[in-house]
Amino acid sequence: MKLEKLCATEKLKIYTAFSKAFLNYFYPLILDADETFDQWLTLGVDLDCSYGAFDGDKLVAFALHARRGDELYNFATGVIPEYRGKGLVTRLYDQITAPVKLEVLRANDIAKRAYAKAGFRQTRELVTLTGTFGRGALLTRGLDYQIKPYTSETYLALPPLWIPAFEHDRHTLSRQRTQHEIHELYDGKQLVAYSIYTPGEGLVRELGASTTSQLDQLFECMRFPGETVVIGAVDTQAQNLLQYLKSRNLRIYAEQCELRRDGTTS
Ligand SMILES: CC(C)(COP(=O)(O)OP(=O)(O)OC[C@H]1O[C@@H](n2cnc3c(N)ncnc32)[C@H](O)[C@@H]1OP(=O)(O)O)[C@@H](O)C(=O)NCCC(=O)NCCS
Repeated sequence: MKLEKLCATEKLKIYTAFSKAFLNYFYPLILDADETFDQWLTLGVDLDCSYGAFDGDKLVAFALHARRGDELYNFATGVIPEYRGKGLVTRLYDQITAPVKLEVLRANDIAKRAYAKAGFRQTRELVTLTGTFGRGALLTRGLDYQIKPYTSETYLALPPLWIPAFEHDRHTLSRQRTQHEIHELYDGKQLVAYSIYTPGEGLVRELGASTTSQLDQLFECMRFPGETVVIGAVDTQAQNLLQYLKSRNLRIYAEQCELRRDGTTS
């Protein structure tokens, strides 16, 4: 078995291995080759820090990464079915010295086992919620509501309620052609709540608020009540926020574990 970087491998060959590895995944892959390459581009997948295992010319396992500073983010790992159970994930990661972060479905026990053997440890759990948003506190007069396009220069004078996962974070959003919006709620000059929102997907990627009742006010302005929305990858440590979202009829539909592998010296 030959292990090497994927920068010299045809993208279509990687897509073929990717499709075979993810054929019976937890949910169906709906992207064709061009859409997949487009997704890799927007997430910053870099074949110079992505690795493959080859049996002769055949690509049988891969770990695709994006670079973020000194750290790598794993976008996907796959081993084609005939080559599973041989420790190829560990062998791929033996090639990598940089620290690596990734998310894996909580229910994907086989992948979690493979990652643990390759040196990954869980850092946090994330849940994505969806549902028809229930009405909370009605709008107070005198609040100012603004919608702006999201740009890489965006500065918000409120911390996020949790640290967004890689695919939702500001760096990733800045790379995308998709339109993202910032919805802001002001009390006088003070920002009291905001959301980074992707209208085409009904997807909230980041939230900030001084109180949950201000979130109600923000969502009222965004016309959420009665609409189906998705709140992406919330850190389960944000217990008050999760309780609040559940009290507004949202339910968890995806659970992920965030894992990290420290850098190694050799
Ligand atoms: C997850 C995946 C990459 C693991 O690859 P792998 O080469 O099988 O990994 P390993 O050889 O390290 O095996 C990991 C564990 O899986 C289990 N396992 C592997 N093959 C198995 C098989 N055929 N039957 C049952 N369990 C199996 C074992 O528990 C093994 O741990 P062990 O060696 O301590 O017994 C591979 O199964 C895959 O491509 N799955 C589909 C895509 C996916 O889920 N990717 C990860 C999320 S991005």
